[in-house]
Amino acid sequence: LASIDVDLTPVPEGAAITVLWRGKPVFIRHRTAEEIKKAQAVQLADLKDPYAEVLGAPSDLPATDANRTKAGKEKWLVLIGICTHLGCVPKGQAPGDEKGPYGGWFCPCHGSMYDTAGRIRQGPAPRNLDVPPYQFTADTKILIG
Ligand code: FES
Repeated sequence: LASIDVDLTPVPEGAAITVLWRGKPVFIRHRTAEEIKKAQAVQLADLKDPYAEVLGAPSDLPATDANRTKAGKEKWLVLIGICTHLGCVPKGQAPGDEKGPYGGWFCPCHGSMYDTAGRIRQGPAPRNLDVPPYQFTADTKILIG
């Protein structure tokens, strides 16, 4: 399917779901206040990939947390769940999963570590996890694609 509707109502704070969009896993995390704070506090100069990597947006958009989320909906993080190194699916979605030292996702293949905005912080992956095109169609409903 080119576009999919996802109801976020059943996803409690601190939990995540994975949906399939165009054959790819899409991670949706309902971030805690702590995770959002951590993501917003990161300085761009500390990022390996300074670009937002939002599909369809200008390629030089800075990788701020604000640019990788939607205004007023910062608690929702939507990412393509494919490691930008060699394409493994990072861990960090299921309860009890290893999230890595930056609190986001950890790729078991070669140890790439992503933060709570899905940005690469350590390891061989060259780029932040991509943000797919999506929009809110209701308070807790998104359309991806
Ligand atoms: Fe993720 Fe290599 S594929 S670190």
